[in-house]
Amino acid sequence: GAVDAIIVAAGRGERAGAGAPKQYRDLDGEPVLLRSLRSFLALPAIRRVVVVVRAEDRGLFDAAVAGLGAEYSGRLMSVDGGASRQASVRHGLEALASMTAPPDHVLIHDAARPWASASLIRRAITAARTHGSAVPGLAVSDTIKAVDACGQVTATLPRPALRAIQTPQAFRFAAILDAHRRALGEPAEFTDDAAIAEWAGLPVHVFEGEAANSKITHPHDFRAPVMQAPAASL
Ligand code: C5P
Repeated sequence: GAVDAIIVAAGRGERAGAGAPKQYRDLDGEPVLLRSLRSFLALPAIRRVVVVVRAEDRGLFDAAVAGLGAEYSGRLMSVDGGASRQASVRHGLEALASMTAPPDHVLIHDAARPWASASLIRRAITAARTHGSAVPGLAVSDTIKAVDACGQVTATLPRPALRAIQTPQAFRFAAILDAHRRALGEPAEFTDDAAIAEWAGLPVHVFEGEAANSKITHPHDFRAPVMQAPAASL
């Protein structure tokens, strides 16, 4: 069955400092978004890619994808974003739903993760076909504590049971579309699509993520991941 991808790029990226939103900033000579996009377009297993873009960023988006080969243009489309990540993803899902042949599975990826490898994306597709909903995760090395509004620790979470979750997250298309439609208007803040799937009662499987697949959030994140782990290269 067909697999399509949605790349959400409609955030303001304010934590990454002043200037253009982080997904349009330069990373080793190319916009972050172009790197994220190319990882998906380079795979024949991905039929088409929908990029979700803020209306105000249209010019930046057009400039970023001008660097793509013409052979990719038929598989690339874009839609306007929403006020939250959740709304932006929903716009992407609705765009795919309105097409003549919606996909069987969809991968949902943050534009701010430009280092996802081809093998990670292939693992996501395989896991979604097996489990329906599947997300990449890594064991955590920090101890994670819950705190209240005053900064007082309320719990220390058992580390062996924890995973830090990344994208691409992969789902059976009809199931995640239905979950997003039902979650519309819920007061809960869903920070990833797996949380929406869980809320809708779908079982979510975690497969092995990649340490290099980090999300650009702060200005120092623009360094390549290999630079973030000097201990490994000493
Ligand atoms: O802010 P955060 O890093 O969690 O954003 C994750 C991804 O969601 C980014 O790629 C960002 O561009 C996207 N996003 C979006 N629409 C929003 C907010 C965030 O597409 N309204």
